[in-house]
Amino acid sequence: MVTKPDLNPSARILGIETSCDETAAAVVENGRVLLSSVVASQIGLHAQYGGVFPEVASRQHIRTIYAVIEEALQKAHLELRDVDAVAVTRGPGLAGSLVVGVNTAKGLVLAENLPLIGVNHLEAHIYSAWVYPVNMVSPPVPPQFPLLALLVSGGHTELNLMRDHLTYQRLGGTLDDAAGEAFDKVARLLGLVYPGGPAIQNAASSGNPHAFTFPRARLEGTWDFSFSGLKTAVLRLVRKFVEDKHPLPVEDLAASFQEAVVDVLVGKTLAAARAFSAHEILVAGGVSANRALRETFLSQNEYKVNIPSLSLCTDNAAMVASAGYFRFAHGQRDTLDLDVLPTWPLS
Ligand code: KG4
Ligand code: ZN
Repeated sequence: MVTKPDLNPSARILGIETSCDETAAAVVENGRVLLSSVVASQIGLHAQYGGVFPEVASRQHIRTIYAVIEEALQKAHLELRDVDAVAVTRGPGLAGSLVVGVNTAKGLVLAENLPLIGVNHLEAHIYSAWVYPVNMVSPPVPPQFPLLALLVSGGHTELNLMRDHLTYQRLGGTLDDAAGEAFDKVARLLGLVYPGGPAIQNAASSGNPHAFTFPRARLEGTWDFSFSGLKTAVLRLVRKFVEDKHPLPVEDLAASFQEAVVDVLVGKTLAAARAFSAHEILVAGGVSANRALRETFLSQNEYKVNIPSLSLCTDNAAMVASAGYFRFAHGQRDTLDLDVLPTWPLS
């Protein structure tokens, strides 16, 4: 529960993230200064299934979580008792994976009598844009409100207007596939490895983005997105190449698909920022690691665009610690009966 803001919110938060297939722990000071971040990726384990296998994911979290937390504390030169609170992803995500992180966090707070803070994974992605490394000479200016936040991950694609910390006005979101999901599905159609986003990006780097014209669902008059028509258009074209016994022009298909996704995401976000008089834009979530998306956002000069550093785009615990800090500073304290929320919208 959230109560009044803490007037002295100086704090080091240990963050824990296990919502999907990354086991992660990190320590962040005052919501911004990254003291350590450790991510044990399970990508290698799930690649054989072409996606995340939930049962395998939760077992692997159990195997690695204590070592990951220990390493994060060590790298921050801290003991558990030196941190001010433990923040953990409570949802959304895979139930069996979330339980591992939440139960581990409960054990830690019980051992050292620390506050516990349950964090929304989507909010955590947004707060990754506040984080910078401890050794940075001049700290970057934090994102300024009101800001238009585009969240683009494997499970979510949505636009939110933030007028202040921890407040979200959802303007719209995807009606079908999330952007990351579209990358993953199209990668599979093109015979590329899991996860699809980085694979498409690599293939696209030697392809022609204008080789094929794919549909862009603009959904005028709404702030919603749709990527299923685009995915179907790629599927039809792939089938045609196969039927005609022509080799698949994977690079050109990847580049043209990527261009269509970037076009819609950037166009719609800029339009929403104008319509709602936002001062700045924030882009977060796994797909914000995409080079073409980053370059397109950063090459316009109408808005300052806050994008997390590459290592903080995909799932990590620094973002959980940062969001946890702002929740902590606003008085949130959770109890040991904190439960996981596999489905938990941001707003
Ligand atoms: O935020 P994230 O790590 O996990 C979720 O919360 O879903 O996002 C994972 C998604 C995957 O769909 C992955 O393919 C996509 O982010 N992704 C990318 C890139 N890196 C990761 N998509 C496009 N380009 C990338 N470079
Ligand atoms: Zn995520």
